[in-house]
Amino acid sequence: MPRDTAELFGKPTPRIDGVAKVTGAARYASDEPVANPAFAWLVTSAIARGRVGGLRLDSAKAVPGVIDILTHDNVGALAQPPAQMDGGPTTTTLETDQIWHDGQIIAIVVAESFEAAREAANRVEVDYVAEPPSATFDSPGVQVEPHKTTEDSKDPAKGDAAAALAAAEVKIDARYSTPTQHHNPIELFTTTCVWDGPHLTIYEGSQAMWGLKANVAKQLGMDPAMVRTISRFVGGAFGSRGGTTSRTAWIAIAAKRLGRPVKLVATRDQGFTIATYRAETRQHLALGASRDGKLTAFVHEGWEVTSRPSGYNVAGVDTTARMYACPNIATAVHVVHADRNTPGFMRAPPETPYMFALESGMDELAHALNMDPIELRRVNDTKIDPVSGKPFSSRSLMACFDQAAAKFGWSGRNPKPGSMRDGDWLIGWGCATATYPTNIGPAAARLAVTPEGKVTVQLAAHEIGTGAYTVVAITAARSLGLKVDDTTVMLGDSSLPPVTVAGGSNNAATTANVVYKACEEVRRRLAEAATADPASPLHGADAASLQLKGGTLMGPTGASEPFKAALSRVTGGVLEVHAENAPQGSKPGAVAGLYEGKSAMVRGTGRENVTTFAFGAHFVEVRVHERTREIRTPRVVSAFSAGTIVNPMTAHSQFMGGALWGLSAALFEATEIDRKTARYVNHNLADYLIPVNADVPDIQVLVVPEEDDQVNPLGIKGIGEIGIVGMNAAVANAVFHATGTRIRDLPIRAESLL
Ligand code: MOS
Repeated sequence: MPRDTAELFGKPTPRIDGVAKVTGAARYASDEPVANPAFAWLVTSAIARGRVGGLRLDSAKAVPGVIDILTHDNVGALAQPPAQMDGGPTTTTLETDQIWHDGQIIAIVVAESFEAAREAANRVEVDYVAEPPSATFDSPGVQVEPHKTTEDSKDPAKGDAAAALAAAEVKIDARYSTPTQHHNPIELFTTTCVWDGPHLTIYEGSQAMWGLKANVAKQLGMDPAMVRTISRFVGGAFGSRGGTTSRTAWIAIAAKRLGRPVKLVATRDQGFTIATYRAETRQHLALGASRDGKLTAFVHEGWEVTSRPSGYNVAGVDTTARMYACPNIATAVHVVHADRNTPGFMRAPPETPYMFALESGMDELAHALNMDPIELRRVNDTKIDPVSGKPFSSRSLMACFDQAAAKFGWSGRNPKPGSMRDGDWLIGWGCATATYPTNIGPAAARLAVTPEGKVTVQLAAHEIGTGAYTVVAITAARSLGLKVDDTTVMLGDSSLPPVTVAGGSNNAATTANVVYKACEEVRRRLAEAATADPASPLHGADAASLQLKGGTLMGPTGASEPFKAALSRVTGGVLEVHAENAPQGSKPGAVAGLYEGKSAMVRGTGRENVTTFAFGAHFVEVRVHERTREIRTPRVVSAFSAGTIVNPMTAHSQFMGGALWGLSAALFEATEIDRKTARYVNHNLADYLIPVNADVPDIQVLVVPEEDDQVNPLGIKGIGEIGIVGMNAAVANAVFHATGTRIRDLPIRAESLL
């Protein structure tokens, strides 16, 4: 049985890797020193659809220092495209001459220097056989089809939503859209490959060490045991490094052809097309309610852009249909195939776009009912998942609304749109629900502890900026009654025990629970040896009642012995344990699958007896200038409730960063695409707008305490993604309150209000 989690967790703890990061000692993938590297530069397509008719390489080869140029003609047969997360097909790169999208890799130049590779790449002349591309929604030639569902992922449906909507006393029916967005982590997309005889080492920022290893091995037709992936620190991921993309296998092939290490650091603009992105959506939402505000009908449909061959989609109706009690539910999701690179995960992939529609729609419904938007959520709050009928393991949604509302001063709001102002500035206050499913994955970990109380924990988990090293250190040290400062944590290396992909906000729950299990094994062995030894002060006690605390092994009556004495009884040196954890609800073989690079997460909506989600509430004040329509956001209050908080210091940063990104997504971010050429036009950080310091308001984060012993033994819900969810709607709702204008298309800019 787990110990009291409040005793283990909840103390603000600085990052154990903080000093390494701010002093430059932390090595990101392209910082890893390798001997005598050659440098690669990508040649990418300037058209979005067609074929590479021919490549003229003479001028490129004439650049001093050029060593090799990879094209579909000379290496195409050597690799398969990387497997996609959903198992489906994706676009090819050098495998054939086909061009699926703008910015596709069509050749790779390798040279003695970065500069020579760049110059030669610019001298590659490409004869394109071009066809007119389809860019996005409404472009001629796009193919629309229902997304594929499985037994585990059916579109939520219940009752007769059409009839209920027709009969509803009050209803709203609206269309919303969200734009293409790109992650732009500050660490660029890089890959360094080194061969040592038959062994391949890949240095690449990744959220899936064992997944990357297995996928690249499969692409190259190699034994995965011969591949090692290393990613000790990741300079931002947000989903962009969860799957395997095409460049990795080609850099491995380049290094093999040359017989020396090859390093690729792709440019910022290339990152827009060689990695994944958040695809644009269109949504239709209709809500019906009785006069008292109770929902009677829920209809939510989505359309999502993807590449020609891939069925990738996020289907956020799976979350939105579960937010509020409603007897009649109808949902549908369609994919729209265009001549684009395959999209992928980006922070809260389903919830960020789909909760925009739902939480905007709830505000519209509250307005139609002449009801306070918080009260509308309260009337429809539910302890039962309306789709599956299973109870929520815990749900503190209204506590989050109430505490954030009090802090924000919501009671001072005049509900009439356009009624609050400060000089030339129209003031609007808006709110929205935040949520994210609680997922957990299988994992393995190795833990070694010395008689001096020094602990080493090793697992192939991922530090993507979230504080993952520190979560592991806190869990190990406190579970063993030892010190965080005496704990060494090694992550980000596929030669360590496997952990599920760092996605779906599962990392803290996944790693803490497996590390706790390893510590429990240490405790059990020490306790059993002590209670059996007549020389121990704990002799004869019940081994299960002993705890590791304050550097001792302690019995229930206060008898204890020092950790060193207890450990010396079971080992002459260091005690090492290997733990594996298959969370409750795991499918058979979940742990075995980890060793094949498979990430079998137990999803918040995929459990037998319970539905698990974290909840929150955002409140935002916007100010819209009466004449220029400039939009400012001076303050935000967001409250979250997410079970056990392992480290309040890094949790605060996660919540705040999420809220800030939500503001950015609501007001700034959109990747613009040229409809005629299907090329991104603002593929750089100068034109892809993000907030600067002057745009960032006072963001106050509240954490509402919550205990949940059903989500997992330590009660940890994920917090990596929830912060961004719903903020876009809170802003739109505040803009409506300020101006009386409802904006249903993101981002909301001054021109939206002219
Ligand atoms: Mo996250 S978008 O699941 O890395």
